[in-house]
Amino acid sequence: MIGIKCGIDNRVGFCMSISKSVQMPPLLYGTAWKKDLTCDLVIKAIEHGFQGIDTACQPRHYHEAGVGEALEFLRLKGIQREDLFIQTKYTPVAGQDLANLPYDRDSSLTEQVMTSIRVSLKNLKTSYVDALILHSPLSTHQETMEVWRAMELICAKGDAKTLGISNCYSLTALKSIAKEAKIKLSILQNRFYRESGHDKAIREWCQENGVVYQGFWILTANPQLVNHQETKQLAMFYKKSCEQIFYRFLTQIGIVPLIGTTSLVHMREDLAIFDFALTADDLKIMGNLLNEYKQSF
Ligand SMILES: NC(=O)c1ccc[n+]([C@@H]2O[C@H](COP(=O)([O-])OP(=O)(O)OC[C@H]3O[C@@H](n4cnc5c(N)ncnc54)[C@H](OP(=O)(O)O)[C@@H]3O)[C@@H](O)[C@H]2O)c1
Repeated sequence: MIGIKCGIDNRVGFCMSISKSVQMPPLLYGTAWKKDLTCDLVIKAIEHGFQGIDTACQPRHYHEAGVGEALEFLRLKGIQREDLFIQTKYTPVAGQDLANLPYDRDSSLTEQVMTSIRVSLKNLKTSYVDALILHSPLSTHQETMEVWRAMELICAKGDAKTLGISNCYSLTALKSIAKEAKIKLSILQNRFYRESGHDKAIREWCQENGVVYQGFWILTANPQLVNHQETKQLAMFYKKSCEQIFYRFLTQIGIVPLIGTTSLVHMREDLAIFDFALTADDLKIMGNLLNEYKQSF
């Protein structure tokens, strides 16, 4: 069993403490835009210690079959499927390249979702995914719920263990989906950026309702926070990089960062954030920076 030390309960293996209802590693390796390098980078990420992979049935941005090739290679090296958390997405037509669709665009939404998961399982060479994420809400709540119902069927069959949604920045919309869901909405994957106020209210709701909040665009969208004087001081004190301090801060406030680095040095650094913990005072400093970000920069 490969594993990284989980900083929250300080044990090797999947982290239990982010939410009582969902188990997943505290960091996920993101595979967008890696094209032909996907297989190699996923192998490197897992060998370095990542335990979770994020992908999508969206050929426009993800080479999902490359993830599957990596998983097959890793199996031969003794890393079993159940040692890993594998997450994929159903991407609605609006997010797809129309010249390279993984399903028939004229089929019903339900059929699209069913075809999408079939393609994903084939690409990933696995019999199940740990999470299936709706890549973004559809144009109406009714359509979103039609897709959600199809995802519930997939979950009930055992082809997906948990369900989630991405790019949902309306707390009202999120609450409606969660309320009508027969199978729990367990994951929200959103862009973590200033323009949404870093989803403050949404994250609070997630925490109260046992929904894991996964963030992307974390470094790209927040250079002022990552390179802030306060972050630099903490980096000097803990002998870490500013990126490590920022990722550590996020994991300690219950966020699961998606990390798509192509650098082996960064992979090692990002995984090394669990050998230290920020104090309550440090978290307060970083929390204040986050809250004041909108006004101050
Ligand atoms: N649901 C959605 O709609 C959606 C949208 C976008 C992304 N995602 C997911 O999120 C994943 C991450 O994408 P992202 O856009 O957030 O950014 P990212 O791929 O993690 O890229 C972060 C950038 O920061 C750089 N970097 C510098 N120091 C780093 C460090 N210590 N660790 C990591 N990166 C460092 C990276 O360069 P180096 O490569 O040189 O390290 C890279 O250019 C994607 O692969 C995908 O799985 C989902």
